[in-house]
Amino acid sequence: MFPTARPRRLRYSPVLREMVRETSISSSDFVYPLFVTFGKNVKRPIESMPGCFAESIDVTVSSAREVHSLGIPAIILFGIPEHKDEQGSGAYAHDGIIQRAVEEIKHAVPELFVITDVCLCEYTSHGHCGLLENGQVLNDPTLELLAKAAVSHVRAGADMPAPSDMMDGRVAAIRAALDAGGFSSVPVMSYAVKYSSAFYGPFREAAESTPSFGDRKSHQMDPANRREAMKEAAADIEEGADIIMVKPALSYLDIISDVKCAFNVPVAAYNVSGEYAMVHAAARLGWIDYDKVMMEMLISIKRAGADLILTYFAKDAAKILNQA
Ligand code: PBG
Repeated sequence: MFPTARPRRLRYSPVLREMVRETSISSSDFVYPLFVTFGKNVKRPIESMPGCFAESIDVTVSSAREVHSLGIPAIILFGIPEHKDEQGSGAYAHDGIIQRAVEEIKHAVPELFVITDVCLCEYTSHGHCGLLENGQVLNDPTLELLAKAAVSHVRAGADMPAPSDMMDGRVAAIRAALDAGGFSSVPVMSYAVKYSSAFYGPFREAAESTPSFGDRKSHQMDPANRREAMKEAAADIEEGADIIMVKPALSYLDIISDVKCAFNVPVAAYNVSGEYAMVHAAARLGWIDYDKVMMEMLISIKRAGADLILTYFAKDAAKILNQA
């Protein structure tokens, strides 16, 4: 008790502050998302995500090189196909946008760990995450397509598929298909705890994946639910998920913390598009310090328990961390 105890003693010197710091962050914690589109020499700015672009495969390869050179170990790829249809067939076509991108990236930068987002929403004409019947997203018939997509990514050279669709049973379906295809040592990272969030707005503009009607509330989670996160995480681990993700990150730090304490698997957190856009918007108005707010957000996600962070800030943060 005061005056014997004086917590400030540990805060006067910068050296000591650093010595007793409880959490650290480095560029090796990050996964950088990239949006791949069709065409050649395309680098289309995503307006609500300054610094992010939809890029054709040739440009994506250069971006992948840059990411690797900054000490960021991994990327996650999202595809914007030229044609969309009811079945989202571009998601599992052997010459689909992601399959071709993976092949070229792994050829150019083999050391870079390539994760692929597995979902149908970027490939369906209606923008929903699965097959539709009477306006409902069908669960079981969608599983087979997701499994096909994951296997086709891995066949092209992807290091880890990451299902983001939130269908029940998709991790088991993907695990079984990978094992049957001879890929039993390829891990799966599931978007295990994915909320139905307004923070995905800018991403949907980027990936052109806004649902043409309705919303994703029949499969993504209700932001009000905390215990349900445990149920989703447990189910995915039981089905064979190697890494589980919580998404979004900043409004869900309690969930990251709960999941980290309850399960013995690595936890990823997705610092999503809306979280990125808000910081840029406020910084542009001169209302906050971009670098400082970014670093504080990232350390808070680490502190909550995330082992890895998917973030559009990865390159900016790595530049700062690499200088230090
Ligand atoms: C679905 C997917 C989404 C995001 C990642 N994967 C969008 C959604 O569920 O509507 C959002 C990522 C972000 O907002 O940064 N393929």
